Amino acid sequence: MEKIKTGVGHANGKIILIGEHSVVYRKPAIAFPLPSAYIEAEVTDSANEISIECDFYSGLLTDMPELLDSLKKTVEICLDRLDKKNSRFKLVINSAVPAERGMGSSAAVAVATVRAIYDYFQIPLTQNELLDIVAVSEKIAHGNPSGLDALMTSSDTPYYYIKGSVCEPLASKLNAVLIVGDTGKTGRTKEAVQTIADMLHSDKSQQIQMYIDRLGRLTDDVRQCLHADMPQTLGQKMTEAHYCLQQLGASSPELDKLVMTALTHQALGAKLTGGGRGGCMIALAETKQAAANIARALRNAGAVSTWLYEMGETL
Ligand code: MEV
Repeated sequence: MEKIKTGVGHANGKIILIGEHSVVYRKPAIAFPLPSAYIEAEVTDSANEISIECDFYSGLLTDMPELLDSLKKTVEICLDRLDKKNSRFKLVINSAVPAERGMGSSAAVAVATVRAIYDYFQIPLTQNELLDIVAVSEKIAHGNPSGLDALMTSSDTPYYYIKGSVCEPLASKLNAVLIVGDTGKTGRTKEAVQTIADMLHSDKSQQIQMYIDRLGRLTDDVRQCLHADMPQTLGQKMTEAHYCLQQLGASSPELDKLVMTALTHQALGAKLTGGGRGGCMIALAETKQAAANIARALRNAGAVSTWLYEMGETL
């Protein structure tokens, strides 16, 4: 009997510690992979046409058809590059990364899919080729992506990143815990990015540019805090970044509520993470015990899920 051919691919969720939105304008950003939220894609032989199953998208597709379009494009580019256009297979994607919540779901879906297809055909895949393919599908999903989501969802280590010029593994001496809290509301990164682009062409452009520049400086301050093990100052910089992101229109009442809740439960700092306008926020705690207390407070205040991420030394 002929053996059934299978290919598998994985990807992580991601957390942007600081620099979302300003990273689109070539300011620095710092981000971490979130392996406790991951995606698995599996490709198996099929007698029929190519079929795609991704149940976690189903409730979103009426409003956001671009999610499925970008996934189909990912498959198409892979088959084009591999010269396997007439293939037949079934692609099944399972995800523990909630979609449209600032955790890199669309990039993670694309990364896992590309890895699974290359694995299915047993063709080696370089990191550059992977990022190249995912950049195209992310453009459909997000309009003007910085590339940070694709990098982080395909990586196992944190990065300091500037679009088009710097991609450095992060050097950190800080031991602390990040708490991720999900508002349960979807946030559309594409729209948030577009709103900021529009404001940059409006009579508010100077003010908007000022917040973008300030986020860039805050990211470099945070890099210093990580290097010099300064959790208190790091927390302050995160909260300041949330204020800047509010001014850029990237927050929401639910995000602001969870940020305030974290700050009143002894978080060292808190901010939204990712595209915003819904989705997730993060808070910083010095110990696991403090983090567990903050996570409980966030859930009591309406967070539908929380994750803990232990930041360890990366030097
Ligand atoms: C989305 O996770 C992060 C943004 O900065 C967009 C991007 O970097 O492409 C809002």
